[in-house]
Amino acid sequence: MPDLWWKSGIVYEIYPRSFQDSDGDGIGDLNGIRQRLDYLVWLGVDVLWVSPIYPSPMADFGYDVADYCSVDPRFGTIADFEGLVAEAHARGLKVILDFVPSHTSSQHPWFIESRSSRSSAKRDWYIWADAGPDGAPPNNWISNFGGPAWTFDEPTGQYYLHGFLREQPDLNWRNPAVRQAMYAAMRFWLDKGVDGFRVDVMWLMIKDAALRDNPPNPGYKAGEREISRLLDTYTADQPEVQAVVAEMRAVLDAYPARVLIGEIYLPVERLVAYYGKALDGAQLPFNFHLIQVPWTAAAIGELIVDYEGALPEGAWPNWVLGNHDQPRVAARVGSSQARVAAMLLLTLRGTPTLYYGDELGLARVPVPPEAVQDPWEKNEPGLGLGRDPSRTPMQWDASANAGFTTGRPWLPVDPAYATVNVAVLKNDAASLLTLHRSLIALRRQYPALSGGSIRLLSAGPDILGYERREGDARIAVFLNLGVTDEPLPGADQPRDGQVLLSTHADRTGPFSPGSLLRANEGIIFQIGR
Ligand code: NOJ
Ligand code: MG
Repeated sequence: MPDLWWKSGIVYEIYPRSFQDSDGDGIGDLNGIRQRLDYLVWLGVDVLWVSPIYPSPMADFGYDVADYCSVDPRFGTIADFEGLVAEAHARGLKVILDFVPSHTSSQHPWFIESRSSRSSAKRDWYIWADAGPDGAPPNNWISNFGGPAWTFDEPTGQYYLHGFLREQPDLNWRNPAVRQAMYAAMRFWLDKGVDGFRVDVMWLMIKDAALRDNPPNPGYKAGEREISRLLDTYTADQPEVQAVVAEMRAVLDAYPARVLIGEIYLPVERLVAYYGKALDGAQLPFNFHLIQVPWTAAAIGELIVDYEGALPEGAWPNWVLGNHDQPRVAARVGSSQARVAAMLLLTLRGTPTLYYGDELGLARVPVPPEAVQDPWEKNEPGLGLGRDPSRTPMQWDASANAGFTTGRPWLPVDPAYATVNVAVLKNDAASLLTLHRSLIALRRQYPALSGGSIRLLSAGPDILGYERREGDARIAVFLNLGVTDEPLPGADQPRDGQVLLSTHADRTGPFSPGSLLRANEGIIFQIGR
């Protein structure tokens, strides 16, 4: 077993607006999460990552923070949060907050002060620049949500930078006072017993000091998001960011056993730099490559080898299958392969991150145009970029609104909720929910699955096979990513042993060589027992 909780544990992302509403306003809240802690214990996850709960105008649903040291009344109070942490800890669960350092809300008092005059003491806390020729923006940077990354501010006659919405002005992380203020906010929560942070857009926190134009992207295709027109040469992954990450880590390291997780969308070789030169960076730079990789045995096998090979000495891997910004896994790979994907995530080497509702098989929940909430969908409509279909309410039971709220839910509930809900699926031995619970239990029961080494096994074109090994304990996993039954090929095929679990939930016990792996089936196999 790995020695630390964030290595052995399973992370579960809660999007608080959508998990459980306790007060009937149609918006999930902290007391709602508290009501559902026993479900999370039953499922077997260990680490709750709660997306932002801070006071916010909600232009980007909490990723526009107006006060880093408080709780938005829609989510509850500081006392509710302290109650959540205490009750989670009493059950052996950890609580991780989402920290949003790259930008604040335009309603944050710092920005209000900053924009009040060019000589304001907080002017340099944000990134202001003069207009280019003819009053144009200072450079060609594009917002991640479409449109220019600069907004002109009439009263002081300058532009300010925002990598996302204009309601999300970018902080200037080159300013030491900004850094100290943000580290103080981190300590505020660490003092309350928070077990760590997931840091929003860690790789975008610092931009080019000279504000140089980004070069055009020769690979841009019509219909892609607007920001893809440019390469991110001067807006992403700037060398200076590593020092900031190390400082954040030092803030956490002043407390026992905390974890720093970074949201980082970069190719593997650049991603792993975020562990830090002396492993003094993020302990878990999020690895999103399972979300992006073509869903084939060859591509996933190659990804595992590349990622494992790129890890610095002593760095701990991690894998993410979904989050609140991406199409859900069942929408990406289909409901049959979602079972295989769950087995993959929960048997790979490294900390897994699960997204709420994926354990029920939620896919792309329909959100009619009049119900759209996501500002990205509103800015760049019709490209399929909107994130609402992945953020709909958790489905607890067959009662009104799936038991999420007694009021009117902020996003529509999946119409399938009468049959797709926790209450129904937990009593169904063949459900995806039961499969998740069984996989999590196996991972706990067999240390080779949580802490063992990993080695790819040679397998057929549609079959991904790997062995997890710790000492004499050997476990093989075979996943059929194809739609036909296939024999287990290759010299690596285990000759004798026991099937511990099939995604089809209908076989365990001795495995006879030459037997077939069915279409969309995955098995976990204990070798030599
Ligand atoms: C990444 C977050 O996950 C996303 O939801 C948000 O819109 C952007 N960062 C901006 O904070
Ligand atoms: Mg509520």
